[in-house]
Amino acid sequence: MKPLAVCLALLTLSALAADPEDAARLPDGDGKPLVGKVCIDCHGSGNFRRARLTADEWADSVADMVDRGAKASPAEIDTIVAYLAKNFGRGALVRMNTAPLVEIKVVLGFTVPESQAVVDYREKYGPIKSFDDFLKIPGIDPAKAEAAHPKMSF
Ligand code: HEC
Repeated sequence: MKPLAVCLALLTLSALAADPEDAARLPDGDGKPLVGKVCIDCHGSGNFRRARLTADEWADSVADMVDRGAKASPAEIDTIVAYLAKNFGRGALVRMNTAPLVEIKVVLGFTVPESQAVVDYREKYGPIKSFDDFLKIPGIDPAKAEAAHPKMSF
């Protein structure tokens, strides 16, 4: 392949790597389209959805990503940091119907098989409507579920 063709092939690959379904599952709000575009590019949403940081910590994290190559203007960075601090700040609840596996695992303390069971259940039966529904998911330890309950939102 000629160098130009290689470049074009790489560009196409990186365009495909962005995951529109992952972006659509982000919580609604002002910064959603921007975060979907800027932050779901090199990696999936799990990298930031599993974190619970203060606004200052998010500002540092986003600055770090800009150093690594994330492209956003200063105004866009402010919007991104505000969105992340609001939705993934300290104490932010886990949205059980949209959270990726790694957010369920890390924030709620479930194992990988338990977290996978939640994702599989959602895919098979649709939204989990309540904590009672959640308890019906096979393979989840009820005591652990009870302990994680205050951190869940449906
Ligand atoms: C140019 C590529 C790129 C973009 C765009 C990008 N990241 Fe990252 N990010 C990385 C790399 C590389 C890592 C480290 C390896 C990994 O965990 O995938 C990382 C890791 C992370 C981590 C884990 C903590 C860490 O420092 O390892 C968080 C949180 C994160 N990114 C958040 C974001 C947010 C928020 C955005 C949008 C502002 C974003 N990233 C955009 C490349 C990028």
